[in-house]
Amino acid sequence: MSFRITYSVLEADLSQLHARFDEALGAVRGQLGAQLPSWIAGAAYRSGDLLESRNPANPDELLASFHRTPVSELDRVVHVAREAQRAWGATPWAERVRILLRAADLISERRLELSARMTLEVGKSRLESLGDVEESADLLRYYARQLEEADGFRRPMARLSPHEDTLSVLRPYGVFAVISPFNFPLALAAGMSAGALLGGNAVILKPSEETPWCAEGLYHALADAGLPPGVFQVVHGEGESLGAALVRHPGIDGVSFTGSKAVGMALHRTMSTGRVRPCFLELGGKNPAIVCRDADLDAAIEGCFRSAFGLSGQKCSALSRIYVHESLLNAFTDGLARKALEARVGDPSLASVFTGPVINAAAVQRFERAMDEVRQDGAIIAGGERLFLEGALARGHFVAPTVVALSHGHRLMREELFLPFVGVTSFRTLDEALRLANDCDYGLTAGIFSRSAADVERFMAEAEAGVLYANRRTGATTGAWPGVQSFCGWKSSGASGKGGCGPYYVSQFMREQAQTRM
Ligand code: NAD
Ligand code: ALA
Repeated sequence: MSFRITYSVLEADLSQLHARFDEALGAVRGQLGAQLPSWIAGAAYRSGDLLESRNPANPDELLASFHRTPVSELDRVVHVAREAQRAWGATPWAERVRILLRAADLISERRLELSARMTLEVGKSRLESLGDVEESADLLRYYARQLEEADGFRRPMARLSPHEDTLSVLRPYGVFAVISPFNFPLALAAGMSAGALLGGNAVILKPSEETPWCAEGLYHALADAGLPPGVFQVVHGEGESLGAALVRHPGIDGVSFTGSKAVGMALHRTMSTGRVRPCFLELGGKNPAIVCRDADLDAAIEGCFRSAFGLSGQKCSALSRIYVHESLLNAFTDGLARKALEARVGDPSLASVFTGPVINAAAVQRFERAMDEVRQDGAIIAGGERLFLEGALARGHFVAPTVVALSHGHRLMREELFLPFVGVTSFRTLDEALRLANDCDYGLTAGIFSRSAADVERFMAEAEAGVLYANRRTGATTGAWPGVQSFCGWKSSGASGKGGCGPYYVSQFMREQAQTRM
């Protein structure tokens, strides 16, 4: 597939990249406080009921306010989408590809502004923000190439008689509701939307209420690329009200959701009543790493550190359980704890900061409750406290990267916390380590550190997760890229069976039709 990765963080001249990011940050800070619309039928929609987007590192900083879309407006939104989809679904696939590729180029051109916004809105470090924006552009390109490579998903089939020809074609479903989470606010909104749009569907995007500003950037890239009005609409509001009402709407033909297991299960129940409709779910994780007796200890510590604490543990792929061979337990735990204590937590807009805040006050409360449990049932090895920073960050949602010792069966070793929190426990044999790693409701990512090729192969064959990594210093369980690792949740981590970033993604937004002509 002719697809070239464009990830500028891999550029040699990082200092130039930082200087350009600083400039963009200054420009974005000059735009703060705007009132921004929902986007319906290609026009700005203003309800007067405002949703505020604030900086989690400094909640006193209002970034922008967004006009919520009232539930009462959804009939019109869905009607507009259904009308617009008819022409879009009939548009030649090559034209759909052309528009999506143009949108990818616009995202690339705007990458510094979009990532500066993201750092302010989500609290991502600048390199994580740039990665998210560039992943968005690459997702659009990679998915567009899927359509090209499959010739628009039209395939001549075998002949029953010389007098008839049969084509297998993939056709759109109609209108997709796309509901996206806060932590990859551009990449996931863009990826799910692009899959549906390339498949000829119209999309109604309900982004996380934590990240409306990032979604605004996606809208403009698609609109400026020439996507016809009404094919892609953005509605702003809370999940329990607007999101739930959108999914319940009878005019929705399919849902693509990325977010927590609890919400995903609720959407699944809604989508499986009344009539049969596709519902793609990419959900949470409780991702394990196994550190074997013969592991490269430095690589294991570095890889586990990055995966547990990058983006303050708020990745579906974040590492949250580590099983360490008993002979290495002390050396590994000391090394990881040292790195956790040394990691610079602070203003994510600074180049020197490793990680920023968690997303909101509720996440801080979740952290504090978890720490109370650890004090009762286990031991805090590093971190464990809320951080109070100075000056403008005094009210920011900061918590310390935290390493704890907990037994495998503990609730906190089973349920996703979505925080910079990792539990460590020991094992004796690889059999035991694999059993413990797999003994979990989730199955998103998993990693192993071992110098034994046979043990790595056994892990690849037996680990129950959609994304597996061995001996990765850059991330024990994190770091998937479009066209490289397909990102497919197993077990309670997903219900699509075809991962984003992977080669089968776009086709799931289409239904198959056999066309026989005499
Ligand atoms: P969340 O489930 O709280 O919210 C996700 C989206 O669902 C938001 O837009 C929210 O407004 C909406 N929503 C909430 N309640 C709803 C309801 N009742 N009906 C309809 N929509 C509703 O998740 P989050 O906190 O934004 O994101 C974190 C979660 O996402 C974690 O569990 C993480 O593991 C998961 N995630 C998974 C992947 C993946 O690829 N598997 C990627 C990123 C994040
Ligand atoms: N792309 C993100 C990662 O792989 C989810 O960590």
